[in-house]
Amino acid sequence: MAHATAESTPPPPNNGDSGYELGILERRLLPSEDFLALWDAILIDPAIKDRLLAQSLLNFTIRPTVDRSRLPLHGLILLVGPPGTGKTSLARGLAAVTAARMPHLGPFQYLEVDPHDVASAGLGQRQKAVTELLGNTIARYARQRPTIVLLDEVETLAVARSGLSMDVNPIDVHRATDALLAQLDVLAANTPRLLFIATSNFPEAIDEAFLSRSDLLATIDRPSAEACRKIFFNTIHALADHYPAVRALLNSPEVESAAAICRDLDGRQIRKFVLAACTLRHETALDPNTLQAQDFLEALQRGKEEHRNLKDRR
Ligand SMILES: Nc1ncnc2c1ncn2[C@@H]1O[C@H](COP(=O)(O)OP(=O)(O)OP(=O)(O)O)[C@@H](O)[C@H]1O
Ligand SMILES: [Mg+2]
Repeated sequence: MAHATAESTPPPPNNGDSGYELGILERRLLPSEDFLALWDAILIDPAIKDRLLAQSLLNFTIRPTVDRSRLPLHGLILLVGPPGTGKTSLARGLAAVTAARMPHLGPFQYLEVDPHDVASAGLGQRQKAVTELLGNTIARYARQRPTIVLLDEVETLAVARSGLSMDVNPIDVHRATDALLAQLDVLAANTPRLLFIATSNFPEAIDEAFLSRSDLLATIDRPSAEACRKIFFNTIHALADHYPAVRALLNSPEVESAAAICRDLDGRQIRKFVLAACTLRHETALDPNTLQAQDFLEALQRGKEEHRNLKDRR
């Protein structure tokens, strides 16, 4: 997972302790090399990255020292946008870069919340699970050292109460959102060395009061045509770092044509379709040094075709 194309599936804990805690999917100390690499791997408008980093740094500069009644930061950054645009990777990268820029605060604690763990708590237990997770577990870590918490798919936890039908949704879901908001307020007041980074594909499903608590709401859109091209070549370069024969293909006309095909894809699709070029023959899957330039073109055309067919069938 130490290279720049790492898909953002949770890495194993690197804290030397694999003890299970309800609602915690991943726990590690930051900065760590693979998370720093994620920050560099996501190719978006640098102004967005700058703003995210500034907000995150400000959180740890200001919140411990200033009066909250007049400078009311909640310690919450929200990233919204379509699937596969790099939100989770950016969140992990941002956590690592923040820790790297503030070495005087010591290592940062990074926690990743598993929203499904909490959401699947039994009837009547959901509100309790949220309170336990934020009020107890997260608060405990944040008292020990600066802490950054990733709330991925936050619409699962901060369910919009206005959209809930009491006929089909148990009151428990409503109360769990209430509990989340209440705990965010308590943590904002009492635990200044804490930052939540939340992500969502469905901002319309997030509770309004949660949105209003975010200090920065950033929309991460699908990549521009220029960024698509960069992601495409970045992925091939990552392959070439390990399989040097791939480098010779970089300037071929077929690879140029493949790059042009990427321009309306998301970042995840581009990286996956490039990797799919290695699966056209068993020989290449066993040794990507045997890749040929037209494999990229074929894999991209096939990938796009399959997605088009799927869309038509829906
Ligand atoms: N702008 C981008 N630049 C480079 N790589 C990207 C970009 N967007 C996505 N990717 C790649 O796509 C993959 C998926 O990224 P990630 O999981 O962070 O997306 P996401 O927005 O969280 O998706 P989802 O909404 O489905 O959870 C990663 O391998 C990442 O490197
Ligand atoms: Mg994600």
